[in-house]
Amino acid sequence: MHASDFIATKRDGKEHSRESIRAWFQMIHTGEATDDQIAAWLMAVYLRGMTEAELYAITDDMVHSGDVIDLSGIPGIIVDKHSTGGVGDTTTLVTGPLVASLGIPFAKMSGRGLGHTGGTLDKLASIPGLRTELQEEEFVDQVRRMHLAVAGQTGTLVPADKKLYALRDVTATIDAIPLIASSIMSKKLAVGADKILLDVKVGSGAFMQDPDRAIELAGTMAKIGARFSKETVCLITAMEEPLGDFVGNALEVYEAIRILRGEKEGPLLTVSIALAAEELILADKETNIERATERVRAQIANGAAYKKFLEMVQEQDGDTSFVEKPEKLRKARFQIPVKAEKDGIIEKIDARLTGEAALELGSGRLKKDDVLDLDVGIERKLRSGTPVQKGDVIAVLYANDEKRGAESAKILQSAITIGEGAAQKPLIFAKVTDTDVFYTESATR
Ligand code: URA
Ligand code: CA
Repeated sequence: MHASDFIATKRDGKEHSRESIRAWFQMIHTGEATDDQIAAWLMAVYLRGMTEAELYAITDDMVHSGDVIDLSGIPGIIVDKHSTGGVGDTTTLVTGPLVASLGIPFAKMSGRGLGHTGGTLDKLASIPGLRTELQEEEFVDQVRRMHLAVAGQTGTLVPADKKLYALRDVTATIDAIPLIASSIMSKKLAVGADKILLDVKVGSGAFMQDPDRAIELAGTMAKIGARFSKETVCLITAMEEPLGDFVGNALEVYEAIRILRGEKEGPLLTVSIALAAEELILADKETNIERATERVRAQIANGAAYKKFLEMVQEQDGDTSFVEKPEKLRKARFQIPVKAEKDGIIEKIDARLTGEAALELGSGRLKKDDVLDLDVGIERKLRSGTPVQKGDVIAVLYANDEKRGAESAKILQSAITIGEGAAQKPLIFAKVTDTDVFYTESATR
């Protein structure tokens, strides 16, 4: 097969055969397909789309481009929970202990953050000593014994996605549903869980800005899951504003611990509980979503979820005093208040701009090798919907560098809209499966 013929097929809006897709991924693997050719094909896919058969074929070939993890040694149904990425999005650190404390295995392979979105591994690095580089055997053994492990990816998962993603990033072809869906699902399928729970974010701080497109992406991913016999459920959740009240690595761990200890509520808790309840149902531990939600919520009140998190930190050699005294995680040198510039009601604190303000402080990466300042970040003191008077403190920046702090304060100020009060949008828009879309705050199945 000639690469140019394969590209021409998609350019002309025709369907690739199964064999030609296999040959194409082989050419990508060997380097026979050049970056220019791959990029041209990506643009053709972006413009022409893909049939379901093509989508399943590329996902399959991407999964098998690298290692596949074997979690079959863990008893019970393993549900892999994944978020498409947001700001102040610390659900893994809340949902994981909630689910695990009910005896349901939570085996999470996490990544590092890029751009304005944070990664769980970076957050966990703020607990001194905590190891996230677990070998596959140790990871499986830990989940078997205590139902909870959060670690970095072992092995080389889906190298074809790394290649395609890097080219998409520089050729304006990120934002194509078949490419996003196959990218995310190939990585989920390679991890070897039994079922998949996806938190698909929608809003300024997410890939998808529009609920209808987020629902379309979710349905596409759920269909891929079903095709590979892994039941996949997606919650479509708001990312117009940061999910947590804290943004920044150590600060997000601080918030997760406070929530697990029952000392704090808010949107991060609400979404984490909704995800945990869905996990209970996917894991066949509950059939009714209201009952699942109650059981999950009880794990905070009875201290079991907090205990489970502490146990995991101990098991992975982290300094547990940072969990027992989470204030130790708030140690940036300067605290800079950001105040209301006029009287009114806070209408919005924009997620993307808040993420960019945190990035300016040094909490995230623009390039893969950037070094993070784990201690810096932002605390939202007042949520949207709150009436304020000029001069009220809406947020506090935690900075280690005064100049960057001042720059960040400007960006954060631009994230804040004060007006006469806007209607609050729901936190959870819909639940999407391979066959259905349920639009409501509390979808039942
Ligand atoms: N996340 C991924 O892993 N891949 C995409 O294409 C988009 C978001
Ligand atoms: Ca199993």
